[in-house]
Amino acid sequence: MPKVSIIGAGNVGASAALRLAERDVADIVMVDIVEGLPQGKALDMVQAAPLAAFSVGITGTTNQYESISGSDVVIVTSGLPRKPGMTREDLLKVNADIVSKVTQQVVKYAPKCVLLMLTNPLDLMTYHAWKVSGFPAQRVLGQSGVLDSARFSTFVAEALGISPADVTAMVMGGHGDTMVPLPRYTTVSGISVVDLLPAEQIGRIAQRTRDGGAEIVNLMKTSGYYAAGASLAKMAEAIVRDQKRILPASAYLTGQYGIRDLYIGVPIKLGAGGVEQILELKLTDAELGELRKSAGFYKEQLKVLGY
Ligand code: APR
Repeated sequence: MPKVSIIGAGNVGASAALRLAERDVADIVMVDIVEGLPQGKALDMVQAAPLAAFSVGITGTTNQYESISGSDVVIVTSGLPRKPGMTREDLLKVNADIVSKVTQQVVKYAPKCVLLMLTNPLDLMTYHAWKVSGFPAQRVLGQSGVLDSARFSTFVAEALGISPADVTAMVMGGHGDTMVPLPRYTTVSGISVVDLLPAEQIGRIAQRTRDGGAEIVNLMKTSGYYAAGASLAKMAEAIVRDQKRILPASAYLTGQYGIRDLYIGVPIKLGAGGVEQILELKLTDAELGELRKSAGFYKEQLKVLGY
């Protein structure tokens, strides 16, 4: 049975664990620093197995990193979530520290895994984890665009009164205010959304997507987790089952889109090897300008971490 370990058994980690279990993707290990929390959540989830008809194992440990040995995928959600008024960047230093410690353990006990990051600020934490791990960039990536695109799809479906299942959206760039929703590459069963909704309405939907995380934080005073958990599960499944899915994620660029030495959201092919390919879309000057602006912002932020 494949194995997926999740570091941080908080809201996002647990949500991802349950979704992965329900899809019978892999045995799951949750690790946290809080005594009893991962164990309790694992026990609770396992007791859903007879009801939801899954057969994978779910266990939890506190700081026992031996338990992640042999993981195919390690998901890192450990960190502090945003509070109202806090940007993802405010979290930068405090979460970088946590990511360093966790990544060192991952390298020690699961040296062959694909490392899937979720901790915010996402693109910076992914870069940091890549540096600390020493892994090839192909085996380190971040969840960002799957969630942002899901939000975009949700709002498009709502506007058109159609099933969200028929909407495929593309959101590139950093996982923050500078993200780049791409209406031209957003389709409803193959039909570009540009041909289905007026430009102003698409603009409003794109803005709501950019603010999607903050909208939830403002309502419930902490970051969202159901859609983030579902996004992580989709990505971990693509890796474990070598599905070669094409989806946006934070990947290491070496000159694509004129950007180098940076993790940022781009369309990738995701399979057992991790980031198996980076796709280069033909962007307009305006779209490329937005993407490079986003990249510029994160380049600056990386300096705060000493890169
Ligand atoms: N090692 C392992 N687990 C840790 C560590 C650590 N060094 N530090 C914190 N944790 C755990 C916490 O104990 C907590 O259970 O990480 C978990 C985080 O869970 P939540 O506080 O519920 O936060 P969540 O909403 O899941 O968000 C996690 O994702 O969206 C981002 O900004 C968010 O960085 C945050 C992360």
